[in-house]
Amino acid sequence: MIVPRTPSDPAAVAAHYDRLDAFYRELWGEHVHHGLWTTGRETPEAAAEALAARVVEAVGEAREVVDVGCGYGATSRRIAEATGAAVTALTLSEAQAAYARRQPVARGSVRVLVQDWLQNDLPKASADAVVAVESTTHMPERERVFREMARVLRPGGRLVLCVWATSEQPRAWEIRHLLEPICREGRLAGMGSLQENRAWLASAGLAAETDEDWSREVARTWTVVARRVVARLATDRATRQFVRDASEADRVFALTVARLRLAFATGAMRYGFLVARKP
Ligand SMILES: C[S@@+](CC[C@H](N)C(=O)[O-])C[C@H]1O[C@@H](n2cnc3c(N)ncnc32)[C@H](O)[C@@H]1O
Repeated sequence: MIVPRTPSDPAAVAAHYDRLDAFYRELWGEHVHHGLWTTGRETPEAAAEALAARVVEAVGEAREVVDVGCGYGATSRRIAEATGAAVTALTLSEAQAAYARRQPVARGSVRVLVQDWLQNDLPKASADAVVAVESTTHMPERERVFREMARVLRPGGRLVLCVWATSEQPRAWEIRHLLEPICREGRLAGMGSLQENRAWLASAGLAAETDEDWSREVARTWTVVARRVVARLATDRATRQFVRDASEADRVFALTVARLRLAFATGAMRYGFLVARKP
C-alpha cells in the first residue's frame, strides 16, 4: 500500500471536504466520484449517473442499506429511490451532510450521519447492502474498515465497492511524483492495489462476486475536472485568491488534478469495482 509521508486523519479529511465544499459542488456536482464512459459519447453528468447506476444495480433488492462515505448523498438517494430502502449514509463533513439533508427523496429514505465509519454504532447483521464509493482510501486500518462492513451486513448481504487503487507494481518515479503526493494532497490514509483490496475483502470473510477494472472507463474524469479548474481560475477571482493563499493547505488541489490525470495515463492508478457477498 502507498501511504502519504504526512499521515492523514479523520479531522483532516473533514476539514478538506468542508473547506473545498464550494469547489467540489461546482467542479463535480453532487456526485463526488468518477464518471463511467462506456460509449465514450456520454456527457460528464451522464457518466457520473452511469457509475451510480451500476452501484444501484449491484445493490439489488434491499430494505436496509449503509452508504459509507456518502459525500453529498447522491448515490444514497439513487439507491433509496430505486429500491425503496432506508439508507443510512455516513460522511465526516458537516457541509456535505447539510447539503444531503436538504435534498428531497422521492421513495425510501436517507438518514445522514456525520460519523467516522470506524466509530459507527450500527447494529451487527442489520444491512442488506453496504456501499462505499471512493471513500475507503481515506480511512486508516483498512482491514478493520472491511471487517466493520462485514459485521453490519446480514448473511447473504452485499458489499459494493468502488475504489481508487494503485497498479500492482508502480515504478519508483510514479510513487514519488504521482501516488504518494496524490495520497498526501488528497487526504488519503493510503492506496492499495486491486489485489490488496481483494485480500482485505477475503480476510473480512466476504466472497467475491464481481471484480472489474474500470480504469479505462473512468480516466476521462480528470480531463473534465482539469478543464473545469482552468475555466474557473480564468473566470473567478475568489478561486485565484484561494490558490494563491499560502496559508490554505487545500489550495494544492489544482496540482493534484494534474497528477491524477497523469497517473491514469501511465497506468499507475487503477479503478476497481468489486462486489462481495457475506456468506
Ligand atoms: C470522494 S468522497 C465520495 C463521496 C460519495 N461516496 C460519492 O460518491 O459522491 C469521500 C467521502 O468519504 C467520506 N469519508 C472519508 N473518511 C470517512 C470515515 N472515516 N468515515 C465516514 N466517512 C468518511 C468523506 O466524508 C466523503 O464524503
